[in-house]
Amino acid sequence: MKAALRLAASLTDDIEESTVATDHPTVSLQLCSRVERADSAADPGAGLVHLYLDEVEVPSPGDDEVLVRVEAAPINPSDLGLAFAGADIASAQAGETAGRPSVSAPIAAPVMRAMAARLGKAMPVGNEGAGIVVTAGSSEAAQALLGKVVALAGGGMYSQYRCVKASICLELPEGTSPAEGASSFVNPMTALGMLETMRMEGHTALVHTAAASNLGQMLNRLCIQEGVPLVNVVRKTEQEDMLRDAGATFVCNSASPTFMDELTEAIKATSATLAFDAVGGGRLASQILTCMEVAASSKASSYSRYGSSTPKQVYIYGSLDRSPTELHRSFGMVWGVGGWLLTPLLAKVGPEVARQMGQTVAANLKSIFASSYTREVSLAEALHLDAVRDYARQSTGAKYLIKPHLS
Ligand SMILES: NC(=O)c1ccc[n+]([C@@H]2O[C@H](COP(=O)([O-])OP(=O)(O)OC[C@H]3O[C@@H](n4cnc5c(N)ncnc54)[C@H](OP(=O)(O)O)[C@@H]3O)[C@@H](O)[C@H]2O)c1
Repeated sequence: MKAALRLAASLTDDIEESTVATDHPTVSLQLCSRVERADSAADPGAGLVHLYLDEVEVPSPGDDEVLVRVEAAPINPSDLGLAFAGADIASAQAGETAGRPSVSAPIAAPVMRAMAARLGKAMPVGNEGAGIVVTAGSSEAAQALLGKVVALAGGGMYSQYRCVKASICLELPEGTSPAEGASSFVNPMTALGMLETMRMEGHTALVHTAAASNLGQMLNRLCIQEGVPLVNVVRKTEQEDMLRDAGATFVCNSASPTFMDELTEAIKATSATLAFDAVGGGRLASQILTCMEVAASSKASSYSRYGSSTPKQVYIYGSLDRSPTELHRSFGMVWGVGGWLLTPLLAKVGPEVARQMGQTVAANLKSIFASSYTREVSLAEALHLDAVRDYARQSTGAKYLIKPHLS
């Protein structure tokens, strides 16, 4: 049995903006990305990414499913990866598809080599978001969510409606608006996941790069609460000030001429032997390992030609700098550099720990895991060229929030 919901007008401002859903909607606008070949004699192997709004049918929920009216979804760096497929956004061009704004951008031939599996396919964009359950299937779990504000990492969240399993919905505490809950998964769970990894792998302190990011600000608040020493690496003085004002003890600026000395001192003070690097390209990972080695060697009682015996690990978990990662191996022989992704970590810790992490996020959404946005846009506005160029900069404090029902 399905039940339709008449939204209570008093829930939150966000919900008040919404149209009252009395009937099952039939169509939903959805932001999609499609990669195509664009070979030419001058540019063999080149491609093109096309972002546009599609009208898709809204399914009726099965017994254990719910239909969520999506109210808010953030544009995170990982969304840009799927949406723009490594295209040259500076060369993007505005267009129109079925009377709605669209955007196209060229993809260089080397980048196209990784696109075989998605060629010609419409990929719905948007990892996470929040909304209101407007229709629910007959199961107890689905019915329990009817009318609730939920967050979900359902994929395809730049849509007006998403029909998903009730089990993937995180019910948000009463009084939480969809905008406040829109970023409940990607960044908060990653911050928690970093601490899980640290503990599982026997480390006691962390280094974090691009630390003024939305995620970095959360990690700073989380580490302060948990008493975990954190070395924040940023690249601008205003980012140093922002994190210090937020209570950070160790902030190192990679643009400072004395960066290596400052980072080494911070690592000595914290004994950090694990780093999470969102930058990825260039020498930063290498510099961190070098400073960890200097810090470890300074505590060694005897010399070894193989360097210190202290294990040092950098996990590259972002690609803010897409240039090659440069390792200048001046850090002994006991080190590792690897990739890190939230989803395998969640699989590793198992469903019960992942569920507890979700509950921790929900309970602290307005404090530790709060996100802020520079601009709220409709689905169509998200495809305006000025907006695309602005959010694609991935600058501090410049995160966009898509509100799919704004016109
Ligand atoms: N692996 C995973 O599972 C996972 C999960 C969640 C997030 N992430 C990653 O976490 C990172 C942060 O995400 P977010 O949503 O918090 O980002 P955000 O709020 O958009 O912030 C991006 C930050 O990166 C900095 N930045 C951009 N380009 C840079 C560069 N080339 N070198 C150094 N700093 C640079 C910006 O500083 P400026 O203002 O100086 O440009 C800004 O502080 C992203 O890389 C994202 O992909 C990964």
